Amino acid sequence: MGPISNRYTELVGIEHPIVQEGLGPYRTSKLAAAVSQAGGLGTVSMPGMPEDLQAGARTFLSHIEECASLTDKPFAVNIPVGVDARGAIVEFTDVYIRAVLDARRRDAGLAAQLTVMTTSAGFPGVYIDLIKDAGMVHQHKVGSTRQAIKAAEAGVDVVIAAGFEMGGHAPAAGVHTFVLVPKVTEAIDIPVVLTGGARDGRTLAAALCMGADAVALGTRFILSEENSDWHPNYLQALLDAKEGDDVAFTGVYGPCRGLRNPASEALLVAQNDPDADPVALIRHKIESMSRAQTDGDTVNSLVMTGQVAGAIDHVIRVAEFVPAMAEEAAAVLARLAGNLTGAAPA
Ligand SMILES: Cc1cc2nc3c(=O)[nH]c(=O)nc-3n(C[C@H](O)[C@H](O)[C@H](O)COP(=O)(O)O)c2cc1C
Repeated sequence: MGPISNRYTELVGIEHPIVQEGLGPYRTSKLAAAVSQAGGLGTVSMPGMPEDLQAGARTFLSHIEECASLTDKPFAVNIPVGVDARGAIVEFTDVYIRAVLDARRRDAGLAAQLTVMTTSAGFPGVYIDLIKDAGMVHQHKVGSTRQAIKAAEAGVDVVIAAGFEMGGHAPAAGVHTFVLVPKVTEAIDIPVVLTGGARDGRTLAAALCMGADAVALGTRFILSEENSDWHPNYLQALLDAKEGDDVAFTGVYGPCRGLRNPASEALLVAQNDPDADPVALIRHKIESMSRAQTDGDTVNSLVMTGQVAGAIDHVIRVAEFVPAMAEEAAAVLARLAGNLTGAAPA
């Protein structure tokens, strides 16, 4: 057992309340395995939306199998919920969720390990019962207290409260973690995971103080030795980023945070062009994001990152980082409690 165990670590079956979140459309099988192996919860990310979605699902499953082959600990998958202009859930979400549930049904060993599904972006609606019936823990990412209440009432097991500063697709509401997380934890009784801006034990301790049960990190884990699937230029661009180097543009599901560079500057112009073909624009964005990771062109491609990149200056080893982060959080909380001079609350 780690130094911080609580209802979240017990529910998900992990040692430390530290999650590596979905980082689609990029490959994260090795990274997810490393985080789970270190006692946190790793997440295999969804691999994008090729025109042949069955081929996309096969890629997804191969990433899941790779993760399962590298750790015997529990891990998660992330599937964003795309919603069309009429509010209907789009096909890729359905194909990917069913592919994961089918794979677990076929393989009891995989089902024992792949125990958590994280949905994000749109409301997961009918999939809530499907995921529950499959016996998985269902985490859903939200950007507002209203969405958190809706998700909890609909039966999800865990809410991930996503603040404005997060990398990648950020909630349209744009509420900062410091405002959002205490409000969400007051409003619902199920475990809450803070995401956006976390990077060390101090930020984990702060999240716990705000009532969260765990933190989820994206950018911090991109900058790790175990993230060897990504082009080194991507990692270097994040290391070079300073405060204020990030910008929000319109991504695939809504606002998206990445580096300010020629690609995002051009997109900020293109997204306001009334003649732009919306489907072509979405395909361009996904291709551009993928190019940054595979080819390392961090100037002419969209480089997704959280604001926290401006506060990170080194690459970590996940195996050491995860337990050390939990130890640091516990030490911070103990030190601060030791400084209290007044009577402890009843
Ligand atoms: C490169 C990148 C890709 C991301 N892709 C996804 C995704 O596919 N699905 C998702 O729910 N969130 C995605 N996110 C958001 C992360 O899951 C996480 O919420 C975010 O990184 C947390 O903020 P942080 O970067 O400050 O830690 C992505 C973030 C980044 C930086």
